[in-house]
Amino acid sequence: MHSHILTPALTTRIRAQRLAPAADPSAGAFHANLAAALNDRRAAHSLRTISDNNPQQSKKIDFASNDILSFNATGQLYHHFLSELTTANPPGVNINIGSTGSRLLDGDSLYLSQTELLIATFHHAETGLLCSSGYDANVAVWTAIPRPGDVVLYDALVHASTHAGIARSLAMEKFEFKHGDVEDFREVLGRVVREQGLVRAGRRSVLVAVEAVYSMDGDVCPLREMVEVAREVCGTEELRGSVQFVVDEAHSTGLLGEKGEGLVSALGLEKEIAVRVHTFGKCMGASGAIVLGSSLIKTALINFANSVIFTTAPPFPLVATIRASYALLQSEQGQAARERVQHVVRFFYEELTSHPAWHTARERGLLSVPLADDWDSRAFQSHISTVWTRPQYMYWLYFHLHAEGYCVWPIEHPVVPIGQSRIKVSFHAANTDEQVQGLVDAIFVWVEEVTANEEGRANAKVTHAASVVYEWMRSEGLDGFGMV
Ligand SMILES: Cc1ncc(COP(=O)(O)O)c(C=O)c1O
Repeated sequence: MHSHILTPALTTRIRAQRLAPAADPSAGAFHANLAAALNDRRAAHSLRTISDNNPQQSKKIDFASNDILSFNATGQLYHHFLSELTTANPPGVNINIGSTGSRLLDGDSLYLSQTELLIATFHHAETGLLCSSGYDANVAVWTAIPRPGDVVLYDALVHASTHAGIARSLAMEKFEFKHGDVEDFREVLGRVVREQGLVRAGRRSVLVAVEAVYSMDGDVCPLREMVEVAREVCGTEELRGSVQFVVDEAHSTGLLGEKGEGLVSALGLEKEIAVRVHTFGKCMGASGAIVLGSSLIKTALINFANSVIFTTAPPFPLVATIRASYALLQSEQGQAARERVQHVVRFFYEELTSHPAWHTARERGLLSVPLADDWDSRAFQSHISTVWTRPQYMYWLYFHLHAEGYCVWPIEHPVVPIGQSRIKVSFHAANTDEQVQGLVDAIFVWVEEVTANEEGRANAKVTHAASVVYEWMRSEGLDGFGMV
């Protein structure tokens, strides 16, 4: 069992938190300041590392990767990619593999613009602009779209790329509203309309940033209700159209809607939403992103967004992969994968909530799975779920699941607020029922272990997997990670 627990990924991560010796003062302020900033991270045990974390390489069962539809794990995307290569590159035609320039200079191609049209049509949008990543796309939107004097409202849990864009946007006033809280949104929007003269006069807009499915919580945005609130608060003639939404569909693309078109299409709100950002690095199994909107939006992006203007256009291999992924999404295999994800998540909640120890584990504060509470009343199951325990036990549960062969990640500050660490579980089309059952069983084996320790029924204070990790850490003079 030790070798299962003390994997290179885990030991590298923990070892990396050892404080580095102070930089040699003679090396100058540049090195000393960078080294000191990294040591601050180490002191908080939050230094990030790159190690062999990939579930396929580590041979752990994948409840973590973004390959949600398992387009990569099954090899389906690879095969579609190969057939896209032959379709896109008929004999005798020379295709540029590299982009050869910015989209606005030499980097454009018929292939790129046809792909944009294809994707925009799939999502029932007027037009689209491909970007090399979702991060770039969000930065492009937020730096280009708001005009001086506009106001930005954003959900408290929007992604780092949206924050990066908003921070650099021309909007002077930016306000957060509570995560997924329609009433707080109403309150903040109402205040903005009352207090911001130019907005009240209908001369400036309010732009609202939300995500379709939130990446660290898995919950779905109450978008219809928010659109309704915007209509109510800004119902007068001069405020018509003053509130516009930007919906980041990173985690809904491929999953929500009849064919995976995303939340906006699933709700039939295409006409109400100004901008959608669909990313391809999650369920679609590729990478890159598209910004969907009107031609006005697209023209604004290619004129005002530096991350579009001053960068090389998305290259052919990326665009071909994205096209292959869309073809797969619309095939029978895509449909089956989408349905399979729904089954897998439902099965998880069924097994979890019907487990004999579920209620006592919750009552003891040992287990909380927020999305399990009303899972059977939801038509759509998010592929992301979170498992919470008492903060001091979070690592113990993580070590246990890791030792049992499940690839899941603890999500900690600074990704989530201090005190809100949780274990993120992502479900995939290729996860078998046995794997899901195994995960649920492993969680309850751990619950029983902690309960026995707490009740003094076991001659131990720390759970087994955690004690193995801590013994190794002590031998290396390391601390943190819930060590007692
Ligand atoms: C909600 C959200 N938006 C945008 C991004 C960035 O997308 P990409 O990985 O394509 O840069 C992510 C990725 O973590 C995300 O979760």
